[in-house]
Amino acid sequence: MNIASRLLPYLKPYRLRFVQASIAMLCVAGLNGISVWLLKPVVDYVFVHRDPQMLYLAVLLIPGIFLIKMLLAYTQAYLMSFIGQRITQELRETLFRHLHDLSMDFFWGRRSGEILARVTNDLNTLQSGLHFTPLYLIRDTMTVVVLLFVLFAIHWKFAMIAMTALPLAAVVLVVLGKKMRESGSKSQEIMGEIYHRFQESLQGMIVVKAFNYEEGAIRKFNQESSSFFFQMMRYLRATALSGPLMEFLGSLVLTTLVFYGGKEIIQEQMTPGTFFAFLGSFFAAYDPIKNLARLNSTVQISLASAERIFQVLDEKPAVQERTGPLPFKNPRQGIQLKNVCFRYPGRESWALKNINLQMSPGEVVAIAGPSGSGKTTLAHLLLRLFDPAQGQILVDDMDLREFSIKSLRDHIGLVTQDTILFNDSVVGNVALGKPEASQEEVLNALRAADAASFVQQLPAGPHTLLGDRGIRLSGGQRQRIAIARAILKNPSIHILDEATSNLDTASERSVQQALEKLYQGRTVFVIAHRLSTLQNADRIFAMHLGEIVESGTHAELLAKKGLYAMLYQLQQLEPYDPKILVPDA
Ligand SMILES: Nc1ncnc2c1ncn2[C@@H]1O[C@H](COP(=O)(O)OP(=O)(O)OP(=O)(O)O)[C@@H](O)[C@H]1O
Ligand SMILES: [Mg+2]
Repeated sequence: MNIASRLLPYLKPYRLRFVQASIAMLCVAGLNGISVWLLKPVVDYVFVHRDPQMLYLAVLLIPGIFLIKMLLAYTQAYLMSFIGQRITQELRETLFRHLHDLSMDFFWGRRSGEILARVTNDLNTLQSGLHFTPLYLIRDTMTVVVLLFVLFAIHWKFAMIAMTALPLAAVVLVVLGKKMRESGSKSQEIMGEIYHRFQESLQGMIVVKAFNYEEGAIRKFNQESSSFFFQMMRYLRATALSGPLMEFLGSLVLTTLVFYGGKEIIQEQMTPGTFFAFLGSFFAAYDPIKNLARLNSTVQISLASAERIFQVLDEKPAVQERTGPLPFKNPRQGIQLKNVCFRYPGRESWALKNINLQMSPGEVVAIAGPSGSGKTTLAHLLLRLFDPAQGQILVDDMDLREFSIKSLRDHIGLVTQDTILFNDSVVGNVALGKPEASQEEVLNALRAADAASFVQQLPAGPHTLLGDRGIRLSGGQRQRIAIARAILKNPSIHILDEATSNLDTASERSVQQALEKLYQGRTVFVIAHRLSTLQNADRIFAMHLGEIVESGTHAELLAKKGLYAMLYQLQQLEPYDPKILVPDA
Protein backbone atom coordinates (compact mmCIF):
# COMPACT_ATOMS: atom_id res chain seq x y z
CA MET A 1 0.00 0.00 0.00
CA ASN A 2 2.86 2.26 0.95
CA ILE A 3 4.49 1.78 -2.42
CA ALA A 4 1.23 2.26 -4.29
CA SER A 5 0.75 5.56 -2.47
CA ARG A 6 4.20 6.69 -3.56
CA LEU A 7 3.02 6.38 -7.13
CA LEU A 8 0.18 8.81 -6.43
CA PRO A 9 2.21 12.03 -6.81
CA TYR A 10 3.12 10.87 -10.31
CA LEU A 11 -0.58 10.51 -11.06
CA LYS A 12 -1.40 13.98 -9.80
CA PRO A 13 -0.78 15.97 -13.01
CA TYR A 14 -3.18 13.67 -14.81
CA ARG A 15 -5.95 13.73 -12.27
CA LEU A 16 -8.42 15.38 -14.67
CA ARG A 17 -7.83 12.65 -17.23
CA PHE A 18 -8.07 10.10 -14.48
CA VAL A 19 -11.43 11.47 -13.37
CA GLN A 20 -12.65 11.44 -16.97
CA ALA A 21 -11.50 7.85 -17.36
CA SER A 22 -13.15 6.92 -14.07
CA ILE A 23 -16.43 8.48 -15.18
CA ALA A 24 -16.23 6.51 -18.40
CA MET A 25 -15.55 3.39 -16.33
CA LEU A 26 -18.44 4.16 -14.04
CA CYS A 27 -20.72 4.47 -17.04
CA VAL A 28 -19.44 1.19 -18.46
CA ALA A 29 -20.11 -0.51 -15.13
CA GLY A 30 -23.55 1.12 -15.01
CA LEU A 31 -24.33 -0.06 -18.52
CA ASN A 32 -23.23 -3.56 -17.58
CA GLY A 33 -25.73 -3.41 -14.73
CA ILE A 34 -28.50 -2.03 -16.94
CA SER A 35 -28.02 -4.66 -19.60
CA VAL A 36 -28.55 -7.50 -17.14
CA TRP A 37 -31.26 -5.60 -15.32
CA LEU A 38 -33.17 -5.54 -18.62
CA LEU A 39 -33.10 -9.34 -18.68
CA LYS A 40 -35.93 -9.47 -16.15
CA PRO A 41 -38.59 -7.50 -18.10
CA VAL A 42 -37.45 -9.06 -21.38
CA VAL A 43 -37.82 -12.61 -20.10
CA ASP A 44 -41.03 -11.88 -18.21
CA TYR A 45 -42.74 -9.86 -20.97
CA VAL A 46 -41.44 -11.53 -24.12
CA PHE A 47 -41.27 -15.13 -23.05
CA VAL A 48 -43.94 -15.30 -20.35
CA HIS A 49 -46.48 -12.62 -21.44
CA ARG A 50 -45.54 -12.87 -25.13
CA ASP A 51 -45.48 -9.07 -25.60
CA PRO A 52 -44.19 -8.17 -29.15
CA GLN A 53 -43.62 -4.51 -28.22
CA MET A 54 -41.07 -5.50 -25.63
CA LEU A 55 -39.31 -7.60 -28.27
CA TYR A 56 -38.91 -4.59 -30.62
CA LEU A 57 -37.74 -2.43 -27.77
CA ALA A 58 -35.16 -5.04 -26.84
CA VAL A 59 -33.90 -5.24 -30.43
CA LEU A 60 -33.40 -1.46 -30.43
CA LEU A 61 -31.95 -1.16 -26.94
CA ILE A 62 -29.33 -3.89 -27.05
CA PRO A 63 -27.18 -2.48 -29.91
CA GLY A 64 -27.74 1.06 -28.58
CA ILE A 65 -26.41 0.18 -25.15
CA PHE A 66 -23.42 -1.67 -26.59
CA LEU A 67 -22.55 1.18 -28.95
CA ILE A 68 -22.38 3.63 -26.05
CA LYS A 69 -20.42 1.09 -24.05
CA MET A 70 -17.95 0.70 -26.90
CA LEU A 71 -17.29 4.44 -27.11
CA LEU A 72 -16.89 4.74 -23.37
CA ALA A 73 -14.61 1.72 -23.19
CA TYR A 74 -12.39 3.19 -25.92
CA THR A 75 -12.21 6.53 -24.09
CA GLN A 76 -11.22 4.95 -20.80
CA ALA A 77 -8.65 2.66 -22.41
CA TYR A 78 -7.08 5.56 -24.29
CA LEU A 79 -6.94 7.83 -21.25
CA MET A 80 -5.50 5.17 -19.01
CA SER A 81 -2.84 4.15 -21.52
CA PHE A 82 -1.90 7.80 -21.84
CA ILE A 83 -1.59 8.17 -18.08
CA GLY A 84 0.35 4.90 -17.74
CA GLN A 85 2.82 5.89 -20.46
CA ARG A 86 3.28 9.37 -19.08
CA ILE A 87 3.96 8.12 -15.55
CA THR A 88 6.57 5.63 -16.79
CA GLN A 89 8.19 8.31 -18.92
CA GLU A 90 8.36 10.55 -15.89
CA LEU A 91 9.78 7.77 -13.71
CA ARG A 92 12.33 6.84 -16.35
CA GLU A 93 13.55 10.40 -16.64
CA THR A 94 13.54 10.88 -12.86
CA LEU A 95 15.57 7.69 -12.46
CA PHE A 96 18.13 8.79 -15.03
CA ARG A 97 18.44 12.22 -13.45
CA HIS A 98 18.66 10.72 -9.98
CA LEU A 99 21.45 8.37 -11.07
CA HIS A 100 23.43 11.45 -12.11
CA ASP A 101 22.89 13.00 -8.68
CA LEU A 102 24.32 9.99 -6.88
CA SER A 103 27.95 9.79 -5.82
CA MET A 104 30.52 7.38 -7.17
CA ASP A 105 30.19 5.01 -4.19
CA PHE A 106 26.76 4.05 -5.53
CA PHE A 107 28.18 3.00 -8.89
CA TRP A 108 31.28 1.35 -7.52
CA GLY A 109 29.24 -0.58 -4.99
CA ARG A 110 26.86 -2.00 -7.57
CA ARG A 111 26.98 -3.78 -10.85
CA SER A 112 25.85 -1.67 -13.74
CA GLY A 113 23.81 -4.58 -15.14
CA GLU A 114 21.82 -4.66 -11.95
CA ILE A 115 21.07 -0.94 -12.18
CA LEU A 116 20.22 -1.37 -15.85
CA ALA A 117 17.69 -4.08 -14.96
CA ARG A 118 15.84 -1.64 -12.75
CA VAL A 119 15.78 1.09 -15.34
CA THR A 120 14.57 -1.28 -18.06
CA ASN A 121 13.00 -4.49 -16.86
CA ASP A 122 11.41 -3.19 -13.67
CA LEU A 123 10.17 -0.07 -15.36
CA ASN A 124 8.62 -2.20 -18.11
CA THR A 125 6.89 -4.41 -15.59
CA LEU A 126 5.60 -1.37 -13.76
CA GLN A 127 4.53 0.15 -17.03
CA SER A 128 2.41 -2.81 -18.06
CA GLY A 129 0.93 -2.74 -14.57
CA LEU A 130 0.14 0.96 -14.75
CA HIS A 131 -1.22 0.59 -18.23
CA PHE A 132 -4.02 -1.80 -17.54
CA THR A 133 -4.30 -2.33 -13.82
CA PRO A 134 -5.99 0.87 -12.59
CA LEU A 135 -8.32 0.65 -15.55
CA TYR A 136 -9.47 -2.89 -14.91
CA LEU A 137 -9.20 -2.62 -11.14
CA ILE A 138 -11.68 0.24 -11.02
CA ARG A 139 -13.89 -1.10 -13.77
CA ASP A 140 -14.14 -4.57 -12.29
CA THR A 141 -14.58 -3.40 -8.72
CA MET A 142 -17.28 -1.00 -9.85
CA THR A 143 -18.98 -3.68 -11.92
CA VAL A 144 -19.00 -6.00 -8.93
CA VAL A 145 -20.39 -3.26 -6.65
CA VAL A 146 -23.12 -2.30 -9.14
CA LEU A 147 -24.04 -5.92 -9.69
CA LEU A 148 -24.22 -6.45 -5.94
CA PHE A 149 -26.78 -3.62 -5.77
CA VAL A 150 -28.70 -5.25 -8.59
CA LEU A 151 -28.56 -8.58 -6.80
CA PHE A 152 -29.89 -6.99 -3.61
CA ALA A 153 -32.59 -5.17 -5.54
CA ILE A 154 -33.72 -8.38 -7.22
CA HIS A 155 -33.65 -10.66 -4.22
CA TRP A 156 -31.89 -9.59 -1.07
CA LYS A 157 -31.91 -13.02 0.59
CA PHE A 158 -30.19 -14.67 -2.34
CA ALA A 159 -27.82 -11.73 -2.49
CA MET A 160 -26.80 -12.49 1.09
CA ILE A 161 -25.98 -16.09 0.10
CA ALA A 162 -23.84 -14.84 -2.79
CA MET A 163 -22.06 -12.43 -0.40
CA THR A 164 -20.73 -15.31 1.74
CA ALA A 165 -18.17 -15.98 -1.00
CA LEU A 166 -16.60 -12.53 -0.65
CA PRO A 167 -14.50 -13.05 2.51
CA LEU A 168 -13.25 -16.37 1.11
CA ALA A 169 -12.30 -14.64 -2.13
CA ALA A 170 -10.46 -11.98 -0.14
CA VAL A 171 -8.44 -14.64 1.70
CA VAL A 172 -7.47 -16.25 -1.61
CA LEU A 173 -6.39 -12.88 -3.01
CA VAL A 174 -4.30 -11.97 0.01
CA VAL A 175 -2.58 -15.33 0.49
CA LEU A 176 -1.76 -15.85 -3.16
CA GLY A 177 -0.90 -12.16 -3.53
CA LYS A 178 1.81 -12.44 -0.90
CA LYS A 179 3.33 -15.41 -2.67
CA MET A 180 3.21 -13.60 -6.00
CA ARG A 181 4.87 -10.53 -4.58
CA GLU A 182 7.70 -12.52 -3.00
CA SER A 183 8.44 -14.64 -6.02
CA GLY A 184 7.99 -11.67 -8.34
CA SER A 185 10.47 -9.66 -6.36
CA LYS A 186 13.01 -12.51 -6.27
CA SER A 187 12.68 -13.14 -9.98
CA GLN A 188 13.38 -9.48 -10.69
CA GLU A 189 16.47 -9.65 -8.53
CA ILE A 190 17.64 -12.60 -10.59
CA MET A 191 16.83 -10.66 -13.74
CA GLY A 192 19.37 -8.11 -12.49
CA GLU A 193 21.97 -10.89 -12.34
CA ILE A 194 21.05 -11.96 -15.85
CA TYR A 195 21.55 -8.43 -17.15
CA HIS A 196 24.84 -8.32 -15.31
CA ARG A 197 26.06 -11.55 -16.91
CA PHE A 198 25.01 -10.36 -20.34
CA GLN A 199 26.85 -7.10 -19.90
CA GLU A 200 29.92 -8.80 -18.52
CA SER A 201 30.23 -11.04 -21.56
CA LEU A 202 29.43 -8.29 -24.03
CA GLN A 203 32.04 -5.98 -22.58
CA GLY A 204 34.66 -8.60 -21.89
CA MET A 205 34.18 -10.72 -25.01
CA ILE A 206 37.81 -10.35 -26.00
CA VAL A 207 39.00 -11.86 -22.72
CA VAL A 208 36.27 -14.50 -22.85
CA LYS A 209 37.56 -15.59 -26.24
CA ALA A 210 41.27 -15.29 -25.50
CA PHE A 211 40.96 -17.44 -22.39
CA ASN A 212 38.45 -19.90 -23.87
CA TYR A 213 36.10 -18.83 -21.11
CA GLU A 214 32.95 -19.26 -23.25
CA GLU A 215 31.80 -22.40 -21.45
CA GLY A 216 32.36 -20.88 -18.01
CA ALA A 217 30.45 -17.73 -18.90
CA ILE A 218 27.63 -19.73 -20.46
CA ARG A 219 27.42 -22.03 -17.45
CA LYS A 220 27.13 -19.11 -15.01
CA PHE A 221 24.55 -17.45 -17.22
CA ASN A 222 22.50 -20.64 -17.49
CA GLN A 223 22.50 -20.98 -13.70
CA GLU A 224 20.93 -17.55 -13.35
CA SER A 225 18.62 -18.23 -16.23
CA SER A 226 17.32 -21.43 -14.70
CA SER A 227 16.88 -19.94 -11.24
CA PHE A 228 14.87 -17.19 -12.93
CA PHE A 229 12.73 -19.90 -14.47
CA PHE A 230 12.04 -21.51 -11.11
CA GLN A 231 11.19 -18.22 -9.38
CA MET A 232 8.98 -17.20 -12.25
CA MET A 233 7.19 -20.56 -12.11
CA ARG A 234 6.43 -19.97 -8.42
CA TYR A 235 4.87 -16.67 -9.39
CA LEU A 236 3.02 -18.18 -12.32
CA ARG A 237 1.70 -21.11 -10.29
CA ALA A 238 0.13 -18.69 -7.85
CA THR A 239 -1.24 -16.70 -10.78
CA ALA A 240 -2.61 -19.80 -12.49
CA LEU A 241 -4.22 -20.98 -9.28
CA SER A 242 -6.09 -17.82 -8.39
CA GLY A 243 -8.58 -17.74 -11.29
CA PRO A 244 -9.72 -21.38 -11.03
CA LEU A 245 -9.90 -21.12 -7.23
CA MET A 246 -12.26 -18.18 -7.60
CA GLU A 247 -14.27 -20.15 -10.11
CA PHE A 248 -14.58 -23.06 -7.75
CA LEU A 249 -15.76 -20.76 -4.96
CA GLY A 250 -18.33 -19.35 -7.37
CA SER A 251 -19.56 -22.78 -8.31
CA LEU A 252 -20.30 -23.56 -4.65
CA VAL A 253 -22.36 -20.38 -4.37
CA LEU A 254 -24.07 -21.18 -7.65
CA THR A 255 -25.07 -24.64 -6.41
CA THR A 256 -26.62 -23.11 -3.31
CA LEU A 257 -28.47 -20.54 -5.40
CA VAL A 258 -29.80 -23.10 -7.86
CA PHE A 259 -30.93 -25.29 -5.01
CA TYR A 260 -32.88 -22.55 -3.15
CA GLY A 261 -34.00 -20.78 -6.32
CA GLY A 262 -35.26 -23.99 -7.88
CA LYS A 263 -37.20 -24.73 -4.70
CA GLU A 264 -38.82 -21.26 -4.68
CA ILE A 265 -39.77 -21.55 -8.35
CA ILE A 266 -41.27 -24.98 -7.79
CA GLN A 267 -43.26 -23.53 -4.88
CA GLU A 268 -44.18 -20.59 -7.18
CA GLN A 269 -42.77 -18.04 -4.73
CA MET A 270 -40.55 -16.57 -7.42
CA THR A 271 -41.01 -15.83 -11.11
CA PRO A 272 -38.54 -17.43 -13.54
CA GLY A 273 -37.74 -13.83 -14.66
CA THR A 274 -36.51 -12.91 -11.20
CA PHE A 275 -34.50 -16.08 -10.95
CA PHE A 276 -32.86 -15.67 -14.36
CA ALA A 277 -32.17 -11.99 -13.79
CA PHE A 278 -30.54 -12.94 -10.52
CA LEU A 279 -28.47 -15.69 -12.13
CA GLY A 280 -27.63 -13.32 -14.99
CA SER A 281 -26.34 -10.71 -12.55
CA PHE A 282 -24.48 -13.37 -10.67
CA PHE A 283 -22.76 -14.59 -13.82
CA ALA A 284 -22.04 -11.03 -14.86
CA ALA A 285 -20.27 -10.48 -11.55
CA TYR A 286 -18.33 -13.69 -12.06
CA ASP A 287 -16.02 -12.47 -14.78
CA PRO A 288 -14.97 -9.24 -13.07
CA ILE A 289 -14.25 -11.16 -9.87
CA LYS A 290 -12.12 -13.64 -11.78
CA ASN A 291 -10.42 -10.70 -13.48
CA LEU A 292 -9.69 -9.17 -10.09
CA ALA A 293 -7.97 -12.38 -9.06
CA ARG A 294 -5.84 -12.27 -12.21
CA LEU A 295 -5.18 -8.55 -11.81
CA ASN A 296 -3.88 -9.30 -8.36
CA SER A 297 -0.84 -10.97 -9.91
CA THR A 298 -0.12 -7.97 -12.12
CA VAL A 299 -0.53 -5.65 -9.16
CA GLN A 300 1.81 -7.72 -7.02
CA ILE A 301 4.63 -7.98 -9.55
CA SER A 302 4.25 -4.29 -10.46
CA LEU A 303 4.50 -3.36 -6.80
CA ALA A 304 7.63 -5.48 -6.48
CA SER A 305 9.09 -3.58 -9.44
CA ALA A 306 7.97 -0.23 -8.09
CA GLU A 307 9.69 -1.08 -4.82
CA ARG A 308 12.96 -1.75 -6.61
CA ILE A 309 12.65 1.50 -8.53
CA PHE A 310 11.93 3.48 -5.38
CA GLN A 311 14.93 1.85 -3.71
CA VAL A 312 17.12 3.56 -6.29
CA LEU A 313 15.21 6.82 -5.98
CA ASP A 314 15.64 6.67 -2.20
CA GLU A 315 19.42 6.45 -2.47
CA LYS A 316 21.05 9.59 -1.17
CA PRO A 317 24.31 10.86 -2.62
CA ALA A 318 27.17 10.32 -0.19
CA VAL A 319 28.69 13.61 -1.29
CA GLN A 320 26.18 16.28 -0.40
CA GLU A 321 26.23 19.95 -1.14
CA ARG A 322 25.60 22.25 1.79
CA THR A 323 22.72 24.68 1.58
CA GLY A 324 23.74 28.00 0.13
CA PRO A 325 27.09 26.79 -1.24
CA LEU A 326 29.79 29.27 -2.20
CA PRO A 327 30.92 29.58 -5.79
CA PHE A 328 34.38 28.13 -6.26
CA LYS A 329 36.98 30.66 -7.42
CA ASN A 330 40.54 30.24 -8.61
CA PRO A 331 42.53 29.47 -5.47
CA ARG A 332 44.70 32.41 -4.46
CA GLN A 333 46.50 30.95 -1.47
CA GLY A 334 46.38 27.36 -2.55
CA ILE A 335 44.96 23.98 -1.74
CA GLN A 336 45.84 22.28 1.49
CA LEU A 337 45.17 18.72 2.60
CA LYS A 338 45.19 18.41 6.37
CA ASN A 339 45.41 14.97 7.96
CA VAL A 340 43.20 13.52 5.27
CA CYS A 341 42.15 9.91 5.77
CA PHE A 342 39.93 7.95 3.51
CA ARG A 343 38.55 4.44 3.43
CA TYR A 344 36.40 3.01 0.63
CA PRO A 345 32.96 1.84 1.74
CA GLY A 346 33.10 -1.79 2.78
CA ARG A 347 36.91 -1.85 2.97
CA GLU A 348 38.84 -2.56 6.12
CA SER A 349 42.10 -0.82 5.31
CA TRP A 350 42.65 2.86 4.80
CA ALA A 351 43.25 3.92 1.20
CA LEU A 352 44.68 7.23 2.44
CA LYS A 353 46.26 7.79 5.84
CA ASN A 354 47.07 11.20 7.29
CA ILE A 355 47.79 12.97 4.07
CA ASN A 356 49.28 16.43 4.54
CA LEU A 357 49.98 18.31 1.38
CA GLN A 358 50.08 21.90 0.23
CA MET A 359 49.67 23.11 -3.32
CA SER A 360 50.29 26.74 -4.19
CA PRO A 361 48.56 28.33 -7.16
CA GLY A 362 50.60 27.80 -10.30
CA GLU A 363 52.51 24.94 -8.78
CA VAL A 364 52.98 21.59 -10.47
CA VAL A 365 52.68 18.88 -7.86
CA ALA A 366 53.41 15.31 -8.82
CA ILE A 367 52.49 12.10 -7.08
CA ALA A 368 54.55 9.01 -7.56
CA GLY A 369 54.26 5.64 -5.94
CA PRO A 370 53.64 1.99 -6.57
CA SER A 371 50.36 0.63 -7.85
CA GLY A 372 47.57 0.70 -5.27
CA SER A 373 49.31 3.31 -3.10
CA GLY A 374 46.32 5.68 -3.28
CA LYS A 375 47.28 8.17 -6.00
CA THR A 376 44.01 8.01 -7.93
CA THR A 377 42.05 8.07 -4.69
CA LEU A 378 43.77 11.33 -3.76
CA ALA A 379 42.81 12.84 -7.12
CA HIS A 380 39.21 11.72 -6.59
CA LEU A 381 39.05 13.50 -3.25
CA LEU A 382 40.10 16.77 -4.89
CA LEU A 383 37.17 16.41 -7.28
CA ARG A 384 34.89 15.64 -4.37
CA LEU A 385 33.91 12.28 -5.78
CA PHE A 386 34.25 11.32 -2.12
CA ASP A 387 34.67 13.27 1.07
CA PRO A 388 37.54 12.48 3.44
CA ALA A 389 36.55 10.29 6.38
CA GLN A 390 38.83 12.37 8.60
CA GLY A 391 40.72 15.58 8.04
CA GLN A 392 40.00 18.39 5.66
CA ILE A 393 40.73 19.66 2.22
CA LEU A 394 41.03 23.45 2.33
CA VAL A 395 40.99 25.86 -0.56
CA ASP A 396 42.06 29.34 0.53
CA ASP A 397 41.36 28.17 4.09
CA MET A 398 37.82 27.22 3.19
CA ASP A 399 36.66 23.61 3.45
CA LEU A 400 36.03 22.04 0.05
CA ARG A 401 32.56 21.13 1.30
CA GLU A 402 31.58 24.79 1.45
CA PHE A 403 31.66 25.14 -2.32
CA SER A 404 29.08 24.31 -4.92
CA ILE A 405 30.08 20.99 -6.44
CA LYS A 406 29.32 22.13 -9.95
CA SER A 407 31.45 25.26 -9.71
CA LEU A 408 34.29 23.25 -8.16
CA ARG A 409 34.28 20.77 -11.02
CA ASP A 410 33.99 23.63 -13.52
CA HIS A 411 37.45 24.65 -12.35
CA ILE A 412 39.03 21.23 -12.60
CA GLY A 413 40.16 19.39 -15.70
CA LEU A 414 40.58 15.65 -15.34
CA VAL A 415 42.36 13.16 -17.55
CA THR A 416 41.43 9.80 -16.10
CA GLN A 417 43.58 6.74 -15.93
CA ASP A 418 41.14 4.74 -18.08
CA THR A 419 40.12 6.85 -21.00
CA ILE A 420 36.39 7.18 -21.28
CA LEU A 421 34.99 8.16 -24.66
CA PHE A 422 31.34 8.70 -25.38
CA ASN A 423 29.39 7.53 -28.39
CA ASP A 424 29.77 10.88 -30.10
CA SER A 425 31.97 12.52 -32.72
CA VAL A 426 35.58 13.43 -31.97
CA VAL A 427 34.45 17.04 -31.66
CA GLY A 428 31.60 16.07 -29.32
CA ASN A 429 33.99 14.07 -27.16
CA VAL A 430 36.53 16.87 -26.93
CA ALA A 431 33.93 19.57 -26.28
CA LEU A 432 32.30 17.60 -23.46
CA GLY A 433 33.24 20.16 -20.81
CA LYS A 434 32.79 23.16 -23.09
CA PRO A 435 29.89 22.54 -25.47
CA GLU A 436 29.94 26.13 -26.73
CA ALA A 437 33.52 25.80 -28.04
CA SER A 438 34.04 26.71 -31.69
CA GLN A 439 35.32 24.21 -34.23
CA GLU A 440 38.60 26.14 -34.34
CA GLU A 441 39.09 25.86 -30.58
CA VAL A 442 38.46 22.12 -30.71
CA LEU A 443 40.98 21.70 -33.53
CA ASN A 444 43.54 23.74 -31.60
CA ALA A 445 43.05 21.52 -28.57
CA LEU A 446 43.48 18.42 -30.73
CA ARG A 447 46.66 19.88 -32.18
CA ALA A 448 48.04 20.65 -28.72
CA ALA A 449 47.30 17.07 -27.66
CA ASP A 450 49.19 15.73 -30.69
CA ALA A 451 45.92 14.25 -31.95
CA ALA A 452 45.27 16.38 -35.01
CA SER A 453 47.11 14.21 -37.49
CA PHE A 454 45.47 10.90 -36.65
CA VAL A 455 42.05 12.57 -36.33
CA GLN A 456 42.43 13.96 -39.85
CA GLN A 457 42.97 10.42 -41.10
CA LEU A 458 39.70 9.13 -39.59
CA PRO A 459 36.93 8.51 -42.17
CA ALA A 460 35.03 11.70 -41.34
CA GLY A 461 37.88 13.62 -39.74
CA PRO A 462 36.89 15.35 -36.50
CA HIS A 463 33.27 14.40 -37.15
CA THR A 464 33.94 10.67 -37.03
CA LEU A 465 31.80 8.86 -34.49
CA LEU A 466 33.75 7.26 -31.65
CA GLY A 467 32.76 4.82 -28.98
CA ASP A 468 30.54 1.78 -29.06
CA ARG A 469 29.00 2.17 -32.46
CA GLY A 470 31.79 4.29 -33.88
CA ILE A 471 35.43 3.91 -34.69
CA ARG A 472 37.67 2.15 -32.21
CA LEU A 473 40.85 3.98 -31.38
CA SER A 474 44.09 2.68 -29.97
CA GLY A 475 44.85 3.27 -26.29
CA GLY A 476 47.24 6.12 -27.04
CA GLN A 477 44.84 7.74 -29.49
CA ARG A 478 42.07 7.60 -26.93
CA GLN A 479 44.33 9.17 -24.37
CA ARG A 480 45.17 12.06 -26.68
CA ILE A 481 41.45 12.74 -27.21
CA ALA A 482 41.05 12.84 -23.43
CA ILE A 483 43.96 15.26 -23.11
CA ALA A 484 42.46 17.49 -25.81
CA ARG A 485 39.26 17.44 -23.77
CA ALA A 486 41.10 18.77 -20.71
CA ILE A 487 43.08 21.29 -22.77
CA LEU A 488 39.91 22.71 -24.31
CA LYS A 489 38.23 23.07 -20.94
CA ASN A 490 41.23 25.11 -19.81
CA PRO A 491 40.51 24.97 -16.08
CA SER A 492 42.51 26.55 -13.29
CA ILE A 493 43.29 23.16 -11.76
CA HIS A 494 44.51 20.21 -13.82
CA ILE A 495 44.43 16.66 -12.59
CA LEU A 496 46.33 14.30 -14.85
CA ASP A 497 46.15 10.68 -13.78
CA GLU A 498 48.59 8.71 -15.89
CA ALA A 499 47.58 10.99 -18.73
CA THR A 500 50.39 9.98 -21.05
CA SER A 501 50.93 6.38 -19.95
CA ASN A 502 49.70 4.88 -23.22
CA LEU A 503 51.75 7.10 -25.48
CA ASP A 504 54.99 6.19 -27.17
CA THR A 505 58.02 8.14 -26.08
CA ALA A 506 57.97 10.54 -29.03
CA SER A 507 54.31 11.31 -28.67
CA GLU A 508 54.61 11.56 -24.91
CA ARG A 509 57.33 14.14 -25.30
CA SER A 510 55.31 16.31 -27.63
CA VAL A 511 52.15 16.03 -25.49
CA GLN A 512 54.25 16.73 -22.42
CA GLN A 513 55.53 19.94 -23.99
CA ALA A 514 52.00 20.99 -24.90
CA LEU A 515 50.81 20.24 -21.39
CA GLU A 516 53.67 22.15 -19.82
CA LYS A 517 52.74 25.22 -21.81
CA LEU A 518 49.26 24.80 -20.43
CA TYR A 519 50.53 24.54 -16.86
CA GLN A 520 51.46 28.21 -16.74
CA GLY A 521 49.45 29.90 -14.02
CA ARG A 522 47.54 26.70 -13.31
CA THR A 523 47.63 24.44 -10.30
CA VAL A 524 48.56 21.03 -11.61
CA PHE A 525 48.30 17.67 -9.95
CA VAL A 526 50.12 15.01 -11.99
CA ILE A 527 50.19 11.31 -11.32
CA ALA A 528 52.64 9.21 -13.27
CA HIS A 529 54.33 5.88 -13.20
CA ARG A 530 56.91 6.89 -15.75
CA LEU A 531 58.95 9.02 -13.43
CA SER A 532 60.95 10.65 -16.20
CA THR A 533 57.82 12.72 -16.97
CA LEU A 534 57.88 14.21 -13.47
CA GLN A 535 61.30 15.77 -13.65
CA ASN A 536 59.99 19.28 -14.19
CA ALA A 537 57.46 19.15 -11.37
CA ASP A 538 57.90 21.76 -8.63
CA ARG A 539 57.38 19.16 -5.95
CA ILE A 540 57.01 15.42 -5.97
CA PHE A 541 55.26 13.41 -3.27
CA ALA A 542 56.02 9.72 -3.09
CA MET A 543 53.22 7.58 -1.74
CA HIS A 544 53.27 4.13 -0.28
CA LEU A 545 50.29 2.19 1.11
CA GLY A 546 48.15 5.30 1.42
CA GLU A 547 50.78 7.45 3.05
CA ILE A 548 53.08 10.16 1.80
CA VAL A 549 56.54 8.87 2.61
CA GLU A 550 58.72 11.57 1.09
CA SER A 551 58.56 14.81 -0.83
CA GLY A 552 60.88 17.15 -2.69
CA THR A 553 62.06 17.94 -6.17
CA HIS A 554 63.22 15.23 -8.51
CA ALA A 555 66.89 15.93 -7.67
CA GLU A 556 66.23 16.09 -3.92
CA LEU A 557 64.37 12.82 -3.92
CA LEU A 558 67.06 11.09 -5.92
CA ALA A 559 69.62 12.31 -3.41
CA LYS A 560 67.49 10.94 -0.56
CA LYS A 561 67.83 7.45 -1.97
CA GLY A 562 64.42 6.48 -0.67
CA LEU A 563 61.32 5.04 -2.34
CA TYR A 564 61.36 7.51 -5.22
CA ALA A 565 65.01 6.91 -5.95
CA MET A 566 64.42 3.19 -5.93
CA LEU A 567 61.44 3.41 -8.31
CA TYR A 568 63.43 5.69 -10.59
CA GLN A 569 66.41 3.36 -10.58
CA LEU A 570 64.21 0.42 -11.48
CA GLN A 571 62.92 2.32 -14.48
CA GLN A 572 66.41 3.16 -15.63
CA LEU A 573 67.63 -0.38 -15.38
CA GLU A 574 67.08 -1.29 -18.97
CA PRO A 575 70.27 -0.23 -20.72
CA TYR A 576 70.04 0.49 -24.37
CA ASP A 577 71.48 -2.39 -26.31
CA PRO A 578 73.10 -1.04 -29.48
CA LYS A 579 73.05 -4.51 -31.01
CA ILE A 580 69.22 -4.40 -31.33
CA LEU A 581 68.41 -4.08 -34.99
CA VAL A 582 65.67 -1.61 -35.69
CA PRO A 583 64.15 -2.33 -39.11
CA ASP A 584 64.10 0.63 -41.46
CA ALA A 585 60.84 2.55 -41.17
N1 LIG B 1 36.30 1.90 -5.99
C1 LIG B 1 37.04 1.35 -5.06
N2 LIG B 1 36.45 0.65 -4.08
C2 LIG B 1 37.16 0.06 -3.14
N3 LIG B 1 38.49 0.12 -3.06
C3 LIG B 1 39.16 0.80 -3.99
C4 LIG B 1 38.47 1.44 -5.05
N4 LIG B 1 39.38 2.03 -5.84
C5 LIG B 1 40.58 1.76 -5.30
N5 LIG B 1 40.45 1.02 -4.19
C6 LIG B 1 41.56 0.58 -3.31
O1 LIG B 1 42.20 1.70 -2.80
C7 LIG B 1 43.60 1.54 -2.84
C8 LIG B 1 44.25 2.69 -3.61
O2 LIG B 1 43.81 2.65 -4.95
P1 LIG B 1 44.19 3.75 -6.03
O3 LIG B 1 43.37 3.50 -7.22
O4 LIG B 1 44.10 5.07 -5.41
O5 LIG B 1 45.70 3.36 -6.32
P2 LIG B 1 46.72 4.02 -7.33
O6 LIG B 1 47.85 4.52 -6.53
O7 LIG B 1 46.02 4.99 -8.21
O8 LIG B 1 47.20 2.76 -8.15
P3 LIG B 1 47.58 2.67 -9.72
O9 LIG B 1 48.93 3.23 -9.84
O10 LIG B 1 47.58 1.19 -9.96
O11 LIG B 1 46.55 3.40 -10.49
C9 LIG B 1 43.87 0.19 -3.47
O12 LIG B 1 44.19 -0.69 -2.44
C10 LIG B 1 42.56 -0.22 -4.09
O13 LIG B 1 42.35 -1.59 -3.94
MG1 LIG C 1 45.54 5.04 -10.20
